[in-house]
Amino acid sequence: MVRKIANKVLALAGYKLVRCRKPFRSVSSSLDPKRERCGLPKSALETIQAGAMRYTYKGISCLKNPFDLAIYAQLIHQTKPGTIVEIGSASGGSALWLSDQVNSFSLDTLIYSVDINVVTAVSAPNLKFLVGDIHHLDDSELPSLLENLRRPLMVIEDGPHYFDGSLAALEFFDKYLMPGEYIIIEDGIVIFATIVPSLAQCTLRREEKRR
Ligand SMILES: C[S@@+](CC[C@H](N)C(=O)[O-])C[C@H]1O[C@@H](n2cnc3c(N)ncnc32)[C@H](O)[C@@H]1O
Repeated sequence: MVRKIANKVLALAGYKLVRCRKPFRSVSSSLDPKRERCGLPKSALETIQAGAMRYTYKGISCLKNPFDLAIYAQLIHQTKPGTIVEIGSASGGSALWLSDQVNSFSLDTLIYSVDINVVTAVSAPNLKFLVGDIHHLDDSELPSLLENLRRPLMVIEDGPHYFDGSLAALEFFDKYLMPGEYIIIEDGIVIFATIVPSLAQCTLRREEKRR
């Protein structure tokens, strides 16, 4: 019965509860570091990823899975960021979720969401969408907005997911981030598990660097 109700709830978000034949292994204890980076089987990751691609927040596409949302909520509550910069706005759903999330914690946080395609259909008082290319963030409005930024800073890199883009973001935000602040590079697991094959280049480049 509980399983049936859970499946109905999950189905709304595009997920399906499946019985796991083998218990999930502990990530820290038994993964082969050369082959796997996650305790979930690939089939479960694929289902979760498919659901995340269909998820909407307040009717707007928000490309996050339930684990992302739970971990972001916890991290925001723990670190109480004064500024959040998101690279990769897509439809603006994740930025809107961040905006509501900080409000629900009564935080005075400013959110800047940057994308090569600016979002105009979403707005909130603590949220600003900017146009910018992850490879040339110095040319965007960000440097002037971050001049007297409210701390702590939290950066979410959810842009094109290619090696060069992530590296450019790390180099740009290195100037701003202080010890104890967070930069999150999204989608490492789906890239490693080649669930999004077009992003395999990122993994390959990373593997090349290791050798
Ligand atoms: C995965 S989506 C972002 C998803 C969004 N954060 C969410 O959770 O709903 C990636 C976004 O990166 C943007 N993008 C692609 N190349 C970019 C670049 N060079 N600079 C900045 N953004 C880029 C795309 O336009 C797309 O909207």
